Amino acid sequence: MPSDAVPRRLNVVVGITGGIAAYKAVGIVRAFVLAGHDVHVVATENALRFVGRPTLEAISRNLVHSDLYDGVAEVRHVAIGQAAELIVVAPATANSIAKLAGGFADDLLGNTILASTAPIVIAPAMHTEMWQNPATVANVQLLRDRGVTVVGPAVGQLTGADSGPGRMSEVDDIVAAALSTVTPQDLKGRRILVTAGGTREPLDPVRFIGNRSSGRQGVAIATAAAARGAEVTLIAANLEVGHPPSIHVIAVSTTAELATAVSSAATENDVVIMAAAVADYRPERVAESKIKKDSQGDVLDLRLIRNPDILMSLAEHRIPGQLIVGFAAETEPDDTALLAIGREKIARKGSDLLVINRVGWTEGFASADNSVSVLDATGAVVTATNGTKLSVANRILDLVSAR
Ligand code: CTP
Repeated sequence: MPSDAVPRRLNVVVGITGGIAAYKAVGIVRAFVLAGHDVHVVATENALRFVGRPTLEAISRNLVHSDLYDGVAEVRHVAIGQAAELIVVAPATANSIAKLAGGFADDLLGNTILASTAPIVIAPAMHTEMWQNPATVANVQLLRDRGVTVVGPAVGQLTGADSGPGRMSEVDDIVAAALSTVTPQDLKGRRILVTAGGTREPLDPVRFIGNRSSGRQGVAIATAAAARGAEVTLIAANLEVGHPPSIHVIAVSTTAELATAVSSAATENDVVIMAAAVADYRPERVAESKIKKDSQGDVLDLRLIRNPDILMSLAEHRIPGQLIVGFAAETEPDDTALLAIGREKIARKGSDLLVINRVGWTEGFASADNSVSVLDATGAVVTATNGTKLSVANRILDLVSAR
């Protein structure tokens, strides 16, 4: 199943029309570029009054197109639209929405859109009166009926002193909605709980015992699952990375907090993916105030108490039909021995799948890429994959989806 629409490099056209929110379109272009896509900006002449061509060219890393009569020899007025795999118009002014609804082709953006069969996403931005005007309401409805995805507008402060519906949606929401139009929605209707990051066990008010997990792989799984239509809850333990706003996040720090959050959320989810690195021990005693050297001397003895195994108890008390995915981060250098550790671990923990990755001083943590093998409950390797953490996330979700 081709579930890699998002990690794949897409030809994205960002159409920018002439409204003050055009300055925020720079952020949209940037987000698509950073996600690895090839971005072509088609700006109206009025859009270029609000945001400069050099800015858009630097950020998109491509020439900005605006004139219908440039590039005539290469038939540019249709070529850009024919090559597009996704068109995002942001901001979409009342005027540009009216032109889109009427099928106008009096500028390059109109021609580009008419010549394209790609999904079209618009992010309206205008004053409340214009958004609520029956002409705009009818035009937006017409576009929705034709399959155009309308993101927002949000309610909030507008350009002047007024506030209300009409503010362009946030960049991340527009980008996420746009990418979901080109991503198979194979996890739609599924509720997925993902844990990410690493738990920390306090010693005193200023110190903790922790691990080096950044949370990148878990967040990538949550992000990819949301893009594939799942309703995602992310239990986040001390993340070093951000997450898309479409994901419901519960922040925790210690293993005990993670255990409580997982056990209360687990019954409402079809799938639980335990990507968090969980501290296996906690200090027996947490000092009320900072531990001072004077009171300890040259050796500080710490007594650590074993934490409960969250994954094991999840698997023991699973609700019928629930799929449980565990992780194993190991330093074992030998591939065969690594798989043997994984087989022992999945048998002991009772999860349906176990994602094994190698970690070490320089491997695994905080890096953008990952390399994993996935075992099923019989101990068979069902997937071995490497690449960006987002593409690894999609391979893991392929297994979830297939089950
Ligand atoms: N895990 C858990 N609760 C714990 C420890 C681990 O739920 N107290 C989960 C992790 O989220 C992961 C899986 O169990 O999905 C394996 O974690 P790992 O640390 O590799 O295994 P351990 O059981 O702790 O075994 P060991 O550290 O001895 O290898």
